[in-house]
Amino acid sequence: MKILVTGGAGFIGSHLTEKLSKKHDVIVFDNFSGGKKEFLEGIKCEIVKGDILDLEKLKEVTKDVEIIYHLAADPDVRKSYYEPIQNFEIDARGTLNVLEAARINNVKKFIFSSSSVVYGNAEMPTSENAPIRPISNYGAAKASSENYMMSYSNLYGIKCLALRYANIIGPKLTHGIIFDFYNKLKNNKNELEILGDGTQKKSYLHVKDCVSATIFAAEKINKKFDVFNVGSEEQISVKEIADLIVKEMGLQDINYKFTGGNTGWPGDIPKMLLSIEKLKSIGWKPTYNIRESIIDTLNYLRGVQ
Ligand SMILES: NC(=O)c1ccc[n+]([C@@H]2O[C@H](COP(=O)([O-])OP(=O)(O)OC[C@H]3O[C@@H](n4cnc5c(N)ncnc54)[C@H](O)[C@@H]3O)[C@@H](O)[C@H]2O)c1
Repeated sequence: MKILVTGGAGFIGSHLTEKLSKKHDVIVFDNFSGGKKEFLEGIKCEIVKGDILDLEKLKEVTKDVEIIYHLAADPDVRKSYYEPIQNFEIDARGTLNVLEAARINNVKKFIFSSSSVVYGNAEMPTSENAPIRPISNYGAAKASSENYMMSYSNLYGIKCLALRYANIIGPKLTHGIIFDFYNKLKNNKNELEILGDGTQKKSYLHVKDCVSATIFAAEKINKKFDVFNVGSEEQISVKEIADLIVKEMGLQDINYKFTGGNTGWPGDIPKMLLSIEKLKSIGWKPTYNIRESIIDTLNYLRGVQ
């Protein structure tokens, strides 16, 4: 089977490509704005450098493709506050372009990496039936993408699956809290700046579990349009993450400098825990706990693995 992975050179995309390439012909489509060539080293796949805003190129690359995993995006929620239009272009319009290429070339399935942020500040654990109330421009773009998937699946018969990921961590991580804390502590062994008051409490999932859930759900899809949360059943606070990283790095007497407030940045969702009952009911469950996932990420960043 021929599969296209947009954003396949990125953190999650390269792990997904590695797994898919063991059984299928995979084409990676990426503009390498955030992705890295070395993430694909040793992985059997065709690499096409291109931008999801280039519909002509997308039309060429989706010929004879049966499934698209669409991961290409600017995942920076903070940046989407300062650059809403640019974020819309990549994260919403870009998705529409990929869907349009899929329609033109009769691609059968479209699998999308959406996000827990589409729910905004929701009741927890948040199920797939919770209202969509994004509080960031990034979240609004993900929600718009899901809406286009709904209409494309209805109008043109492409099977569409939206996977709402929790925070994903693990080897090859290039952004997010673990990445930030590790790099800050590497440069300053006395003080750690923590965005917010440290009480933000969220759920994190190992990238290997994220990939296994993504492929599992994609294989099971039997509706025109469906949605699954992809996360773990545990939460950890920002302060607890800091404590764990400090301990694992063998540091002591670190002065935590909190920037204050219960959110880290405009559009930040301070508390997040997804219900994963729907995915569990069809046979998937995570294999790593949060602490193992954080330590694995840290070991990668420290060059241990
Ligand atoms: N990492 C998380 O915690 C998380 C959580 C929820 C959802 N997601 C979603 O999962 C997907 C992958 O995220 P990630 O963490 O691997 O991020 P990433 O930045 O590592 O990967 C995104 C990839 O998309 C590519 N890309 C960006 N703009 C592009 C464009 N215009 N054309 C072609 N390629 C482009 C980048 O080069 C990069 O390789 C994204 O859609 C993200 O929104 C991630």
